[in-house]
Amino acid sequence: MAKATLAVVGGDGIGPEVTAEAVKVIEAVSPGAFDRVDYDLGAARWQRTGEVLPDSVLAELDAADAILLGAVGAAPGATDVPSGLLERGLLLKIRFAFDHYVNLRPSRLYPGSVSPLADPGDVDFVVIREGTEGLYCGNGGVVREGTPHEIGTEVSVNTAFGVERVVRDAYARAAARRGKLTLVHKHNVLVNAGKLWRRVFEEVGQEFGGVETDYLHVDAATIFLATDPARFDVIVTDNLFGDIITDLAAAVTGGIGLAASGNINPDRTHPSMFEPVHGSAPDIAGQQLADPTAAILSGALLLEHLGHAAEAERVNKAVIADLAARKPGERRSTAQIGDAIAESVA
Ligand code: NAD
Ligand code: IPM
Ligand code: MN
Repeated sequence: MAKATLAVVGGDGIGPEVTAEAVKVIEAVSPGAFDRVDYDLGAARWQRTGEVLPDSVLAELDAADAILLGAVGAAPGATDVPSGLLERGLLLKIRFAFDHYVNLRPSRLYPGSVSPLADPGDVDFVVIREGTEGLYCGNGGVVREGTPHEIGTEVSVNTAFGVERVVRDAYARAAARRGKLTLVHKHNVLVNAGKLWRRVFEEVGQEFGGVETDYLHVDAATIFLATDPARFDVIVTDNLFGDIITDLAAAVTGGIGLAASGNINPDRTHPSMFEPVHGSAPDIAGQQLADPTAAILSGALLLEHLGHAAEAERVNKAVIADLAARKPGERRSTAQIGDAIAESVA
């Protein structure tokens, strides 16, 4: 059988550190299955050449079977790299170009991982975040820049086509899980987009009689994510709300170092891309302090997407065992955690 091509974009900060461990685990669990191509993209490339994501590289990525990404972006206070240059020019460019309309973000509290909640219960839910629309479209601009009358706009784009396809995907996932789907929006204020999301949610729901539905305004959703996250099974929401609530979801289920994600193109017209939910973490970069678990679990999502279900399961089991064996206050390097998981799946 022909080998699958795995494109790896380590990116910035801890990105290359955590993807190295995810690659180690993928190659240990499925030896010889992939031809790996590493891409030098991110802040350093831009500073050296002025390139963020050349069209030729985008075309090469398009020919891969899957993409593993670390993270891109500079420190929030940095002045040497314009904010958004890499996020928009690389990460969002790939999500949009490859039609990653399902941004899959599972949250599970595994035994051994520590929730800040006193009594979190049995937490196991998935956020389906729309990945190609909303406030992320770049639909807006600045007028009268630099004057006291400056106006900056970002207009949220929500299409019936885009909302329906992601809502249908979320119903199907809920039907295959515990049968509960929560729409998170803010239709009390965002009345136009809110009306569309609500109507589509109800209409598509007619096809999924077995799925129990619920609705929460996003502000109230943050209350329940912090007080009773075990109530959720599948959440479907727009691009920005999904971004925000998945950092919170990570925080209540053991921390951002454990949260995996997949930017999925369910129609398989382009490769899907897998990455930790976290960013480049400039505060801990280059010190082997990052937890590579989120990247490794993203690798498991990648394996599953490519049909390697047994290998994905082995990675998940190895991660669960690794988490269960962690001792409070233990200090293992990024590579030590990766080595331990790679060894146990090999
Ligand atoms: P961040 O997720 O990088 O960091 C937030 C906090 O979480 C930091 O204290 C960091 O040290 C910690 N953290 C993150 N990952 C960790 C890990 N694996 N192990 C242990 N601790 C971890 O968020 P930020 O500081 O808002 O963003 C930094 C940069 O990353 C920005 O430029 C932002 O745009 C970018 N970013 C990129 C992506 C991506 O490429 N997918 C995602 C989010 C943020
Ligand atoms: C994420 C990140 C990105 C997002 C940024 C870096 C563009 O925060 O993947 O969660 O907002 O989607
Ligand atoms: Mn985010």
